[in-house]
Amino acid sequence: MDLPITAVEKGKPVHFKNPPKAFYEAIGGEEGMKELMYNFYDKIYESKIAHFFPQDEEEFEEVKKKNSKFFIQICGGPKVYENESKGMELNEYMIRIHDDFSINENNRIEWLGTMREALADKAQHVDIGLIREFWEYLEAFSKLTVNNFADGSTYYAAYTQVKED
Ligand code: HEM
Repeated sequence: MDLPITAVEKGKPVHFKNPPKAFYEAIGGEEGMKELMYNFYDKIYESKIAHFFPQDEEEFEEVKKKNSKFFIQICGGPKVYENESKGMELNEYMIRIHDDFSINENNRIEWLGTMREALADKAQHVDIGLIREFWEYLEAFSKLTVNNFADGSTYYAAYTQVKED
């Protein structure tokens, strides 16, 4: 699928909008989103970023569950992630979760490439325009998870760097 990736630039404001609810509905609601995300994580375990994630099966299952809930809510579905984010705005909370990991541009590209494969498997029946809108959110938002840069420096995105359109 022709879903482009543009380079992260340290400290540069990132514009994005949350994915449309129409994508969530087209993928098959809660169940469909769960299938997409479980497939994504199966692929993550075959990827170059597998070592970032828990190797313990039960812990891995927890990550899959929480990840599915986040995407259900961020796409406008039921607020099933609300209790996890402790009242914080969902995207802001998600940026802070990633501060605990040392993530560089190559890791981000691998994450996005893995998601692109999962989308190709699971979203064949979904309108390409909706897939693109979902992708635009991922491609932009993922820039805010990168905190290690090629010059060896670290930078943790401030929420003020975020520009929600
Ligand atoms: C659009 C970009 C991304 C989104 C929306 C996203 C979303 C998520 C979500 C929802 C979780 C589970 C949070 C929870 O525990 O409640 C998570 C965990 C995690 N993500 Fe991401 N992620 C993104 C990019 C990345 C990238 C680029 C990496 C690179 C390695 C990454 C690595 C991780 C790791 C290591 C965890 C934690 C696993 C654990 O709990 O041990 N994520 N992410």
